[in-house]
Order: sequence, then structure tokens, then C-alpha cells
Amino acid sequence: MDIQAQARARCHWLPDLEGADTPRYQALVDQLAADIVAGTLAPGERLPPQRLLADALKVTVGTITRAYREAERRGLVEARVGSGTRVRSPSMDTPRFHHLSHAAEGSIDLSLSVPIPHPWRAEQLAIVLSRLSQSPHTVEAALAYSSEQGSLASREALAGWLTRQGLPMNAEELILTAGGQHADFLALQALVQPGEAVASAALTYPGMIATGRQLGLKHVAVPMDAEGIRPEALERLCQQQRIRLLYLMPEHNNPTGARMGEARRHAIVAVARRHDLLLLEDGVQFVTAATRGTPFYRLAPERALYIFSVSKLLAGGLRLGALRAPANLMPRLTAALRAQCWAMPELMARAAIDWLTSAEATPLIEWQWQEVAARQRLLAERLQGHEIVAHPCGFHAWLRLPEPWRAVDVVARAAERGVTLLGADPFCVGSQPAPQAVRLCVTPPAERARLDEGLTRLAALLEEEPRRVSPLV
Ligand SMILES: Cc1ncc(COP(=O)(O)O)c(C=O)c1O
Repeated sequence: MDIQAQARARCHWLPDLEGADTPRYQALVDQLAADIVAGTLAPGERLPPQRLLADALKVTVGTITRAYREAERRGLVEARVGSGTRVRSPSMDTPRFHHLSHAAEGSIDLSLSVPIPHPWRAEQLAIVLSRLSQSPHTVEAALAYSSEQGSLASREALAGWLTRQGLPMNAEELILTAGGQHADFLALQALVQPGEAVASAALTYPGMIATGRQLGLKHVAVPMDAEGIRPEALERLCQQQRIRLLYLMPEHNNPTGARMGEARRHAIVAVARRHDLLLLEDGVQFVTAATRGTPFYRLAPERALYIFSVSKLLAGGLRLGALRAPANLMPRLTAALRAQCWAMPELMARAAIDWLTSAEATPLIEWQWQEVAARQRLLAERLQGHEIVAHPCGFHAWLRLPEPWRAVDVVARAAERGVTLLGADPFCVGSQPAPQAVRLCVTPPAERARLDEGLTRLAALLEEEPRRVSPLV
């Protein structure tokens, strides 16, 4: 047997490069991406050693090295010293998306974006559940398998509520999901193929970063300014590479608080239309109609999706969200949801939507808006003179640290004083450098006085001389 035949016999994966009209290294990467999608190559599977594959394909080792490097750049594979190059699998990723707080016992937690635990919450839900249990017709309907989108009655009630909040929608456009995070995952899983690229602001919601990694997507960071994503930077990126979907939080970016004006929204839609991008607007950090700009699905209904969740309005444990999508994308989204779980549990959806749309919920939600605004005013007072970006309806504020503070030191020093904060790292897309800033959530403390105490301790700390605290001790 000659060298090529011997090498071919030993290669468990052999791409066919014959007839490709692109350079060989490129054809090899394209074949790799196609085989990952087709399942011929499994997550975690090792690629043939470079020399062996070069012999098998009768190309230079340099061609294979270039191809493997390009595949790594596209997020298809991961190279590790000593264990070769493997198809990327979610388990290779370092988890950076922690939902639950890492706050120490007794610490003042300013690290989580959660609704204020309202004293009437449990009582209200009991009333809603009792009403529901006394309606055998509704309960009976909830016991049947529903459509993947969720029952028409639930979607109509939710669409009506959203319309009254200045987000006009109809039931046909909605899919009920298990929270906003699920809507995010569903959209990306159904509409973007492994190896394809999605883009977002360079600092974004960690759940979006985690979703991209789980699904083997390439996540491209778009440079941002005070209004968020910069359209000219997006245009440049789209000219350089194919981007399938752009993730947006135009009202109140989590974490930077950036808010997009109307002209910026129109400029982004123009780029999206030029390069055929899907737009995924995450509206989970909900704001009042009076402070909201035009949602992207109103500007570009043919390509924009919108995510809603009750998590920040009522309670995260309800796990009820919704995805608004254009009709042409609906079959792919419902097929993905069917494959996952068929549909959201209708009984839970019904209870959450009944609560949201009930007369009881209105004063509770109103109370929260007022309390959040008061807490933001308190934050502005306690941290007067510091560079802060906040929104009157925002659960968090973004504090750019004064020189010479570094975020890692402030987070460590605050923890010593019993205050838990997050720096910018968990929000950074890829290996972007993290700015020296911290996110301060105003909602986790049940009592406003406790927030006051946390902010007072932080303000005092920032008056001191930084003392470098090693993150490793
Ligand atoms: C921007 C954003 N999207 C989605 C989520 C997740 O929402 P849910 O709890 O409804 O899954 C959060 C939670 O903080 C968020 O901030």
C-alpha cells in the first residue's frame, strides 16, 4: 500500500475535496461544518492528526493547519495541547452563566436582576389559582395537548395585555415559552445553524452568550457607544462575514444601560435589510410604554422577533415567556419547540397569564415601577459624582469606576464589606477586554433600607485608596 492509501485507511474522517471551487483549506472547513450539522462528526469527536490527514488527502500539512485554525476561528472545533483538535461540544465551554446568586450568607446582594419580592405576591397568586381551579372548563382545556404555540385563549389574553402596554401583537404571532431565556434559545436553535454567526453588542446578557456556546454558534461582538450597537461597525462586520442574526436590547442594555434612539434603530434596520439579518429583540428587561422606543418588530416586521417574559414583572419562578415571530419563521420555531417539549405546560401558562392580566396584578406592577424609580434615585444620590448609566424602570445601573480602581478589586473589596456585585467579565462576548465597570442591581434587597446600606458601603469604599486584591486568593 502506498503512503496515501495507508493514511486513508487510518483516517476515521475523510472529507471529499474533489470538485471544490474554493481553496482546499476553505473546502475542508466547509465540509467539516456540513458534517457537524449532518451529525457525521459528533461533538467532542477528535479530528484526524494533521500529518495523517495531509497524507490521506495528498495536500501539505500547512493546508491542514490552516484549515484547522480557520475551523477554530469559526467556533467549529477546539484545539487543546496534548489532546488534538476536537469538534466543539458545549461541555468544553467554561460555564460563565450562573443564574443563582453567589452572594455569601447575610451579604447585601446587588448582583441579580430579579423583581422586588413584593409582600402581596403569594397572596395574589393564591387568589388567581383559586379562581382557576373553580373553572372546570379552563382546567379541562389545559389538560389537553395544545398547539406548539400554546392555547389560542392564553395567547389571545397575552397579546391583548401586550397591546395595551404599547406592544401591539396578535395571538397568531406568539409562541409561549418557558421564560425569556427559553425564547432566546428557541430562536437561535431554530433559526441559526451550528457554525453560523450571530452578533450582539460587545457587552450583553450572559444567557445569550451561553446559548451561542451551547449551540456551537460563532458569536461576534459589535462595538458599542452610549446608544448601544454602532450601525457603521455592524455594516463593516457584515461586509467581512456572513452574520445570520443580530441580538438587541434597545431599551436598556443589560449590563451597560445603553438606550437606542429612534434614528439608531432605523440605521440598524437598514443594515439588517442590506445584509438579510434576522433581528432578535430581547424585551425581558421590561420598561413602561411611556419610556419605550419603537420596537424593532414594528420597524421591520418581516425579519424581527421580540422576546417577552413575566419574570421581571411578577416572578422568575413562573417561567413564562413569549416569542413574537414573523409568519414565515413560525414553522421552524414550532418544529423546534415540538422536538424539545411539544409545548409549554398550559396550566402554568394559564395561571401566569391570568395573574398578569388580572385586576390584582396592576397595582403590584405599578408599585414595582414606583419602587424601582425610587431606588434608582437613591442610587444616584449615594453615588453622586460617579459615572452612572441607569434607566428609571431599570433593575440595574452601570457604574464606570473612577481611576485607578479596577473592577476585580472593587468586587473583592465590596465582598469583604458584605456587598455582592458583578464586574463586566460575565457580560463580555468572546475574549473582549472587560471595561473597568460594575453592574449594580437595585431590586434584590426586599427592603429599600438594605439597598441604601449596600450603596453607602460601596460609596465609602470608592473614596479609599485601591489596594490590589489578587483574584486568586
Ligand atoms: C436580557 C435578559 N433576557 C432574558 C433573561 C431571562 O429571562 P427569564 O427569567 O424570563 O428566562 C434575563 C434575565 O435576567 C435578561 O436580563
